[in-house]
Amino acid sequence: MMKKRWMATLLASALIVSLAGCSGRTEESTDESRPVQMQEDTENGNESQNTAETQRKVLIAYFSWADNAILEEDVDATTSPSVIPPGNVQQLAGWVQEETGGDLFSIRVADPYPSDWDECLERANDERAEDERPELVENVENLDQYDTVFLGYPNWWYGVPMALLSFLEENDFAGKQIYLFCSHGTGGLADSVEIITDTVPDAEISDQIFDCYEEDAASSREEIVRWVQELGYKADSQEDGDTLNLQIGDATLTATLEDNSSAQALKEMLADGPVTLNMQDYENMEKVGSLGQSLPTNDEQITTEAGDLILYQGNSFVIYYAPNSWNFTRLGKINDVNEEELRAILGEGDVTVSLSLAE
Ligand SMILES: Cc1cc2nc3c(=O)[nH]c(=O)nc-3n(C[C@H](O)[C@H](O)[C@H](O)COP(=O)(O)O)c2cc1C
Repeated sequence: MMKKRWMATLLASALIVSLAGCSGRTEESTDESRPVQMQEDTENGNESQNTAETQRKVLIAYFSWADNAILEEDVDATTSPSVIPPGNVQQLAGWVQEETGGDLFSIRVADPYPSDWDECLERANDERAEDERPELVENVENLDQYDTVFLGYPNWWYGVPMALLSFLEENDFAGKQIYLFCSHGTGGLADSVEIITDTVPDAEISDQIFDCYEEDAASSREEIVRWVQELGYKADSQEDGDTLNLQIGDATLTATLEDNSSAQALKEMLADGPVTLNMQDYENMEKVGSLGQSLPTNDEQITTEAGDLILYQGNSFVIYYAPNSWNFTRLGKINDVNEEELRAILGEGDVTVSLSLAE
């Protein structure tokens, strides 16, 4: 687990400090000790609207190692644990963007970090010791247009990546509402909130902070979406045509379609009338059926939850009722149904499902 590796690295760093001049190498990781995102096989309109009457424009700014590393192909992830996209904070930020409809901004340094774990740790530690402000590739255009900022970051050395401070100091956050979200190892939020608060004392930093352990990040979509909703932010996504009906036996379910070109193509397909799919059970986690045509893909690393509607390899429509991690395209999500209810509706074997657009 990453936890062991993280602790081992900390201990090793302490040793390096106390035995100045000696060089040491931390324990090699085993397959099990790699971050979850390495375990691939196991597992708009830019206006946001809150539930109040006012409309607030939202920025989601985040730092993630995966967006800030020199990615090498053919990295041997067993002997040299390395960053592999998507990054944890990157994934969280994507879900906040989907839910709020805000603008996404990745904080990126001009001089990317090594993709090797130990080397990245070392450079980050040097930057922290020197209180550096790494140069950024670009900055947000016209920050004035945003009054709410969701700020995402990983815990780096008990605090924040120094580039986050470059970003905060180069912009004027006075009076802006800031919501923090963080992914971390065993160290939790550590001093990060205090550091950010000290850096932007004139911002309104909410104490409703979302944080998750690094190994849970990939499966935290539901929790972070709930957090965003509880804060009162939700994109105006329930427009006409964004709701899909699924007729399964006697049950009629509704789903909210994703805002991407794949769901758009599905809507265009259904505009001609309902489509009936013969779906088969696969691995006791999904029902899969052919759409009879290919739709555009928007593949990303996804850990599914019950009710996720997925496009697999461009032409298969999949209803998930249990978790699976893979690279595929999100089409939407069935509303208000849990795993148990969905299993009961779908049954154990083949099932016929009729898809249509809600009136
Ligand atoms: C340079 C570096 C320093 C880190 N320091 C800490 C730390 O002090 N405490 C902690 O709990 N996790 C630490 N971590 C683990 C990250 O916070 C964690 O893996 C996070 O989920 C990474 O998010 P990302 O994939 O978006 O970069 C560190 C990771 C890196 C790369």
